[in-house]
Amino acid sequence: MLKTPLCDLLGIEKPVFQGGMAWIADASLASAVSEAGGLGIIAAMNADANWLRDQIHELRTRTDKPFGVNVMLMSPFADEVAQVVIDERVPVVVTGAGNPAKYMKAWNDASIKVIPVVASVALARLVARRGATAVVAEGTESGGHIGETSTMALVPQVVDAVDIPVVAAGGIADGRGVAAAFMLGAAGVQVGTRFLVADECTVSEQYKEMVLKANDTSTRATGRSTGHPVRALKSPFTNAYAKSEAAGASSEELGAMGTGALRKAAMDGNYEEGSFLCGQIAGMVNECQSAREIVDDLVDGAERVLKGASAWVA
Ligand SMILES: Cc1cc2nc3c(=O)[nH]c(=O)nc-3n(C[C@H](O)[C@H](O)[C@H](O)COP(=O)(O)O)c2cc1C
Repeated sequence: MLKTPLCDLLGIEKPVFQGGMAWIADASLASAVSEAGGLGIIAAMNADANWLRDQIHELRTRTDKPFGVNVMLMSPFADEVAQVVIDERVPVVVTGAGNPAKYMKAWNDASIKVIPVVASVALARLVARRGATAVVAEGTESGGHIGETSTMALVPQVVDAVDIPVVAAGGIADGRGVAAAFMLGAAGVQVGTRFLVADECTVSEQYKEMVLKANDTSTRATGRSTGHPVRALKSPFTNAYAKSEAAGASSEELGAMGTGALRKAAMDGNYEEGSFLCGQIAGMVNECQSAREIVDDLVDGAERVLKGASAWVA
């Protein structure tokens, strides 16, 4: 059985997080992953307190297992969402897009396990000093907002820099990836792209089809000029955005282009105008499965690889 200290720390059976995904990771997907023994995570994205509260209540009708909420620190509703997770006694908060220092004390006082997503050693050190329970070290292979450093390079450097558990994210979609993350010193993995095609994932069919058809070169990162790069499947939207970026469009103009584009992809399946956020590993994601099948495949596959690894040592 694959069990790491992270499992005991969070009360989960399997060291697999389903990454928060704006407009996508709702109570349906998160409850299915938690029921399967991993950590399901509701993405609070730019939603307000009422939406999040409803999703938490919905999740609790489906599972009594531990779950998390992903708080996007850039959200205009971040303050009220930060309070909802306290009021609702959410067991785990994963933060994205920035430094959660402002909320750490209140969350720690409420016994919430706080696990920031970091893309650099410096931020990992900072949040560890402020009382983070663990960190997610997310490489640039990931779908969504990304940093510059690859998972392979980032994870061991973060592991060496902090004395809290490290969860590896970015480019992990099967047991080999999970095993590799453990070899780099991670105590768990966070997976986004593969869960896009989970049966319980309510994203548009167009989105799922595009992920299933993707290959190793199907994604591109745009937005580096704004300081907030994003990885998505190549599409009419990413072409238009990249053209504007190359032509020197301002951050404001690019921001306006991006507004609502993920919603159009996730909810409407709008191929022309949608931004289909997705990681580089999409080429390996070739079938729709239940969340339980995905979690089991990740864990069972890792067990096989890890057991076989000693054969390489004479
Ligand atoms: C469609 C999509 C939306 C995402 N939205 C968020 C988000 O709202 N907040 C966040 O912290 N991370 C977000 N992420 C990152 C994931 O939580 C996760 O860390 C990442 O997908 C892992 O890499 P992978 O895509 O290679 O599996 C998103 C990823 C995807 C694919």
